[in-house]
Amino acid sequence: MRLWGGRFSGSSDPRADAIGPSVDVDRALALDDLAGSEAHVRALFGAGLVTADERDELLAGLASLREDVAAGRIEWDPALEDVHLNLEVALGERAGAVAAKLHTGRSRNDQVATDLRLWLRGAAGELDGRIVGLERALVGLASEHHGAVLPGITHLQPAQPVLLAHHLLAYVEMLERDRGRLADAVRRANVSPLGSGAVAGAGFAIDREAEALDLDFDGPTANSIDATSDRDFVVETLAACALCGAHLSRLAEEITWWSNPAFGFVRVAEAFSTGSSMMPNKRNPDPAELVRGKAAGLTGSLVAVLGLLKGLPLAYQRDLQESVRPLLDGVAALRLSLDAMTGIVEGVSVDEMRMRAAAETGYATATAVSDLLVEGGVAFREAHRIVGGVVRALEDGGTGSLTDADDATWQEALAGSADERARALASDGSVGAALRAGATVEASLARADVIGGTAPARVAAALAEARRRLGM
Ligand code: ARG
Repeated sequence: MRLWGGRFSGSSDPRADAIGPSVDVDRALALDDLAGSEAHVRALFGAGLVTADERDELLAGLASLREDVAAGRIEWDPALEDVHLNLEVALGERAGAVAAKLHTGRSRNDQVATDLRLWLRGAAGELDGRIVGLERALVGLASEHHGAVLPGITHLQPAQPVLLAHHLLAYVEMLERDRGRLADAVRRANVSPLGSGAVAGAGFAIDREAEALDLDFDGPTANSIDATSDRDFVVETLAACALCGAHLSRLAEEITWWSNPAFGFVRVAEAFSTGSSMMPNKRNPDPAELVRGKAAGLTGSLVAVLGLLKGLPLAYQRDLQESVRPLLDGVAALRLSLDAMTGIVEGVSVDEMRMRAAAETGYATATAVSDLLVEGGVAFREAHRIVGGVVRALEDGGTGSLTDADDATWQEALAGSADERARALASDGSVGAALRAGATVEASLARADVIGGTAPARVAAALAEARRRLGM
């Protein structure tokens, strides 16, 4: 099959025909392609290249194509390679001979670059709405359990108690940055390549500025070679998507741990759980696991386009056709992940008692107790050593809480210290009680009273601010 007959005498090899077509993928760009064609028709009229009648015939044909595309009535033909040629040929069937004028001053090179930018702009807007939806679900859960505590975990070991709301708001921060990155990618992508032609710029006096505004772009691209051959905007968008996917994957990972009965912090709703084909007892958080799994494919999409670009000389090379699928796949994966995660968070039930019990073990308030000694005049390193010694003493048969250390334990630990102030505290009869009071979860939380800390008043303010921002 030969598309551009004039130049060739023979037909192409079927193996070349097999590798060439992209319409099974880029048909997803059809509505954007039609929008670009409509703007191009108006620009051709503005440049005196089609008459008013021809313009109207072309626009009517494109409008009928738009309906057919939306209704799924187009029969996409791989022999016509891509979405662009399929639509041009379909236009010919509707509008007749005038369709042969559509491609005046245009190349598929500036056409596909335009389609991708239009598509990506719409997709980013849609993803943004979904990210906000997940943020609302997280803030809703945080508000519902505003007093709940859990052990903050580092190295997967108990570290310090934190409020669940604080933990959930950490994800809201990540998601807000993801929104910012997507918006930023669109800000740079939102320029019009139309009029760039194949490489050198269109050979007609097309008003590129008017054409750009017609498509709600911020303006025309400044260099025809760049406009037709770079896909950096695809990389930027996929980078934002991949990072958002990584954030969702971390949350998914936590949910899978937390829903294990050994943790028992949460129970994933039945509607987001699956059974086992063999084990009757199973209740698996598969959708969360798949969110985690999709993040891998998202990373792959990003890397695929980066790899595609790095070896390409200027200007357009056919390799660029391979950037379309990763973009579509990446956006689709993130869309599914955001929707599933929103549902999971909306439906999850939290066991505040289990969370609290875990926060009360693992000596998670040790840092707060050590800080209290520092407040009493003991040098930090020595305070750290003293509390560490008490933890070690309690460990055999202890409950995991520094509230169990009795007066004698503290007095002994302090008296044996090299720090003069610690030794003085050892003979203060109230020191044991004061340190036990400082070892409670509440006292530990209250100490982190800095901007961005987990002290309840700080978290309440952060939660109120998030609710205000999200219109909740
Ligand atoms: N389907 C092609 C792509 O996505 C369109 C541009 C083809 N241009 C060309 N000169 N073969 O990149």
